[in-house]
Amino acid sequence: MLNHNTIKIAVLPGDGIGKEVIEAVLPIFSALSLPITYHIGDIGWDCWVNQANPIPEETWNLINQSDTILLGATTSKPEREAKAELLDKSNLNVVYTSPIIQLRQKLDLFANVRPCFAINKQKQFNFCVIRENTEGLYSGFDYDHLPDDFKKIVSEVPHWNDKINEALSCTLRINSETGMRRIIQFAFEYALKNNHSRVSYADKPNVLRKSSTLGRAIFEEIAARFPQIQADILNVDAVGMHLVTKPEMFGVIVTENMFGDILSDVAAGVMGGLGLAPSANIGLQKSYFEPVHGSGPKMKKNTANPSATFFSLSMLLSYFGHEKFAHIIKNAVINIIRENKTVTRDLGGNSSTYEMALAIIEEAKKGADKNA
Ligand code: IPM
Ligand code: MN
Repeated sequence: MLNHNTIKIAVLPGDGIGKEVIEAVLPIFSALSLPITYHIGDIGWDCWVNQANPIPEETWNLINQSDTILLGATTSKPEREAKAELLDKSNLNVVYTSPIIQLRQKLDLFANVRPCFAINKQKQFNFCVIRENTEGLYSGFDYDHLPDDFKKIVSEVPHWNDKINEALSCTLRINSETGMRRIIQFAFEYALKNNHSRVSYADKPNVLRKSSTLGRAIFEEIAARFPQIQADILNVDAVGMHLVTKPEMFGVIVTENMFGDILSDVAAGVMGGLGLAPSANIGLQKSYFEPVHGSGPKMKKNTANPSATFFSLSMLLSYFGHEKFAHIIKNAVINIIRENKTVTRDLGGNSSTYEMALAIIEEAKKGADKNA
């Protein structure tokens, strides 16, 4: 945790419902007199279409001058659509890379922290998926034609030799010792700090027998330094199932990038939907905070749930040492959801994004007055 008095934030609303949830949440900065100064920057699909660059240079400058980032959401489309929508076709050879993957990799934000907690009083669970954020299947070794160097290796296996002249696609799951060490260490430290008594490493050692050994060895080594924490290695598919049937059994779940992507969406479902799920992307110097939901291209205007963005702002404040404000905001969201009067459609209500956000801000103001 860092301790900043005033946090300088780059606010990047991005695309679709990202713009709506950010606009709905921003008034809480002044309503609570949060210790924040901010500048708004551009990111996302429009930047790609107009400039062949989803993160323009000015936005990188803004990020460099800020302590952290509050992001709405960005749209990512497959390669064919990305090229088709480019305005200036002389840029057709520019490769599209998702802006959030660029942020994670260029800023080296290795830990993607996705907490999941019960809002409804009838249920009891509180766990956190900590996803490695820079390596694994997201490393960028993704091929629509198998490179010749791989062909040689693949053709030596009988099952594949028959197919060696067919079209072959391939993505490399590559993880480094540095990458595994820092994410597993982070997971145990996070567990200690947040009172989780268990850290589970989700992988697939019964099938990926070789590539699982590096993470396993590092996990066992680091787990031994935290004797107060129960540590286990579990199969990722079983973790997916148990998240649904027994979410209360988990504390911290640490896992590689793609497994974490999938498990954290399952976790969001357990929590009550993507409209509730926040995230923090943490590196040694930089960080960004965003709701887990995407830009919701199919959603009707002003219907998105702003809760995930408020929870993400709460995580941001907590990360920079402003625990009191973090609690006030988190509790305000929980109270408004429990009260079930001013909630969006995904929670069974008919309030707009803006109305629900307003109710949360009013509730947070009451919380702040009590704390004063
Ligand atoms: C997420 C998203 C991203 C991911 C996409 C939009 C690149 O699904 O943050 O979970 O796969 O990491
Ligand atoms: Mn995802």
